[in-house]
Amino acid sequence: MIQCPRGTRDFLPDEMEKRRFYENRLRHVALTFGFREVETPIFEDAELFILRSGPNVLKELYAFKDKGDRDIALRPEMTAPAIRMFVNGMSNDPKPIKIFYFGQCFRYERPQSGRYREFFQFGAEIIGSANPEYKNGARPETDAEAIAMAASMIKAFGLKEYRIRIGHIGVLRQRIADAGVPADRAAEVLQKLDKKLYEEARPLMEDMGVSSENIDGIFDLTETVGGPEVLDKVPGEVGDYLRKVVSFLEAMGVKTPEIDLGVVRGLDYYTGMVFEAEAPALGAEKQICGGGSYTLSELFGGEKVFSTGFAIGFDRILLAMEKEGNVYEPRGISVYVVPVSDDVRLRSAEIVAMLRKEGIPSDIDIMGRKMAKAMKYASSIRARYVVIVGAKELEEDSVTVRDMSTGEQKLVKISELCSMF
Ligand code: HAM
Repeated sequence: MIQCPRGTRDFLPDEMEKRRFYENRLRHVALTFGFREVETPIFEDAELFILRSGPNVLKELYAFKDKGDRDIALRPEMTAPAIRMFVNGMSNDPKPIKIFYFGQCFRYERPQSGRYREFFQFGAEIIGSANPEYKNGARPETDAEAIAMAASMIKAFGLKEYRIRIGHIGVLRQRIADAGVPADRAAEVLQKLDKKLYEEARPLMEDMGVSSENIDGIFDLTETVGGPEVLDKVPGEVGDYLRKVVSFLEAMGVKTPEIDLGVVRGLDYYTGMVFEAEAPALGAEKQICGGGSYTLSELFGGEKVFSTGFAIGFDRILLAMEKEGNVYEPRGISVYVVPVSDDVRLRSAEIVAMLRKEGIPSDIDIMGRKMAKAMKYASSIRARYVVIVGAKELEEDSVTVRDMSTGEQKLVKISELCSMF
């Protein structure tokens, strides 16, 4: 038997119905926040991701040469493609540009619970909200808008237990640069700090000539965690900036996130505010959302614009809900039509066509089954009603309608049938 490739999954009809249900909820939230949907190719020139996405993504890339000897990669995320699209065709549009996307991403990772090689992200980007007032060019309103939408999306799933933590990568980048970490090796250090691998980060920085006093200072910074009051410990402009982000979030009714200067993020393009959401129910792979402010456009040949975005790990959030005992009940179809005998099959086909024309999800027995077996099949496909078509009832232009949840049956005129469902 051929199985699907390692780290990928098939989605059977019940699962797919659930996924579409939540996907549409997220789409609804994005539209209510004034974002518009886009789609980019599933594969891109590998260079798009190699330019900036950072060492983490690089080693996880599904990259190959195509028949024209081009280096191609399946997208590991959708921010770089979204910004490429912006540079190619939207750079003159009025700013900010607010876009969202949903689709699969590919990372060559070691599969485990909540970590796949093919997974789905629902993400959004707010492009080009530059403000010279702040060093990293973002605006607190822009950052707050992204966090608020991420929070609304997590809420839309109905997840009970989750935490949102916000930090600022600029502080940490500055601190490690001041401590003597060379710019081209910052990513290596940040990667260790992201995973809180202090015992690996220490010798790495020692090798780069960083003093142990500075190393302790850097570790302390990444352990600056708490309520908005810890912002008093954050140096200068950044503390003020994050305080403004928090005020906007409060104004929008978003539960105040935790402040955590240890939020580092695995990708290399962030410059300012960064944030993550996690669901404790998930254990090791608990991060359900990540984002922040960044610049990428100048790397792809465009003018430098500041953006803020995030992506929700769609599969992980669904897994978290399952772990919390939140079970989705598939809706199934509205009506299943069962001809009682062969002589009423054509009339039954007319009836199902009439229901479908009215937009009522309907199906009909096409296997020539006897009544009992047809009823069994109707419950297996979760039909809410069965329309039983019998020769005697047809003489009165009627059919029998059975409510599958109560077992109640009644005779209904065919002309009134559609209005019943
Ligand atoms: P990311 O943190 O790499 O950020 O991915 C976003 C989310 O995708 C993660 O929080 C996680 O839930 C989910 N995820 C990542 N890898 C896997 C996997 N192997 N299996 C299942 N789920 C996974 C980004 O991708 C950025 N592009 C987010 C962003 C948008 N930043 C700015 N704009």
